Amino acid sequence: MICDNLTVSPSGRLLFAGQDTVELAKQYGTPLYLMDEDRIRHNCRVYTQAFRKHFGPGARPLYASKANSFKRIYEIMKEEGMGIDVVSSGEIYTALQAGYDLGQAYFHSNNKTDEDIRYSMEHGIGYFVADNVEEIKAIEAEAARRGIRQKVLLRLTPGIDPHTYEAISTGKVDSKFGSAIETGQAEEITVYTLGQPHVELVGFHCHVGSQVFAEDVFERAAVIMLEFIADMEKKHGFVTRQLDLGGGYGVRYVESDPYLDVDTKVGQVAAAAKGACERLGIALPEIHMEPGRSIVADAGLTLYTVGTVKQIPGYKNYVSIDGGMPDNPRFALYKADYTCLPASRMDEPRTFACSVVGRCCESGDIIQEHISLPESVGRGDILAVCTTGAYNYSMASNYNRLPRPPIVMLRGGSESYVAVRRESLEDLCRNDL
Ligand code: LLP
Repeated sequence: MICDNLTVSPSGRLLFAGQDTVELAKQYGTPLYLMDEDRIRHNCRVYTQAFRKHFGPGARPLYASKANSFKRIYEIMKEEGMGIDVVSSGEIYTALQAGYDLGQAYFHSNNKTDEDIRYSMEHGIGYFVADNVEEIKAIEAEAARRGIRQKVLLRLTPGIDPHTYEAISTGKVDSKFGSAIETGQAEEITVYTLGQPHVELVGFHCHVGSQVFAEDVFERAAVIMLEFIADMEKKHGFVTRQLDLGGGYGVRYVESDPYLDVDTKVGQVAAAAKGACERLGIALPEIHMEPGRSIVADAGLTLYTVGTVKQIPGYKNYVSIDGGMPDNPRFALYKADYTCLPASRMDEPRTFACSVVGRCCESGDIIQEHISLPESVGRGDILAVCTTGAYNYSMASNYNRLPRPPIVMLRGGSESYVAVRRESLEDLCRNDL
């Protein structure tokens, strides 16, 4: 199995976090997002312990909450001592509703609106990660109006291509994000920011991409950033306190994806960073990273009910499910890989080649192609799509006026509870006048 929270019962049913998925589908209905709370906490602890061990006090992982944002997740992050990365007033509002201390939050995005800046400062945002000079100007103006000094980091592009999907690769020089070191714009924005009376520059940020497996990407990013940091210290006397290396570690969606040991990876980044600091004669800044996917992806599983099974002799077969691109747009957007399992027939051989498709009126509404399911697959079966904890609920839509599924949390091997309720038909018309 692609993750050790997936097992099979003696009667051939898929168990997730030790619980019978067919029973959960019966109890809560489908489509259904399941989240393994114990796994989320485990993933947080792997990061917090690795950071403590390899970087020492002060260093910390921040959960990139764009991966999956709902009230309960911020409560868990608070309990696990995780900082958070937020990208909108919506994520901030959700975190506040969960009682999360916004002083521990870092506000990203390449285009914070004036309203975002006002709202987040009003609620005591800890840090802005400013993308460009215009944002620094807007933050300076709002901070001056409030008579405060606002902490900021600057997002830089280190010029690294991490070889991931094009749409989620962000560290290259021509990216829409950040200021490039190579073009001199990173230094320009640093000097500009240091001249602002109501903005306190505490450090720098970069994010090279997502679903990254390539060797040494983070080590290379750390070294490039530290060289820039040493340069700023030499030229402008600016001592950097925080260096945030972004998120991006890949997770296993299919058997052919490699395992990535976070402790080992963080250890390698720490060794590279410490080595660079020694060589450059600077102190090691507080190191942060922002894992999103690797905190929540393997804690998620989506359950669907199979409807139509269509065979087109000599061509292909389709298995339609009661959800699709509105609850999981990642195949439509990125041709993303997923493992699909016949939750109610795990003991049968899988020899029926098919595509698993959604119920939307659109040919691109595909969950996965080239899947093997049991020959007996048919209406009423439960189908599980694994590793859906990241960028599924957070990217979900109501396309074709389909209500979004609920999120049911699992814990302790037998307990389940609703964290986000299923949208109703009335919810769909809530804002219609
Ligand atoms: N930090 C920043 C500044 C980011 O932009 C991101 C992701 C992260 C951290 C978290 O990266 P992660 O650890 O989750 O890879 N919707 C796409 C992923 C977009 C990632 C955007 N930024 C997908 O479904 O694959």
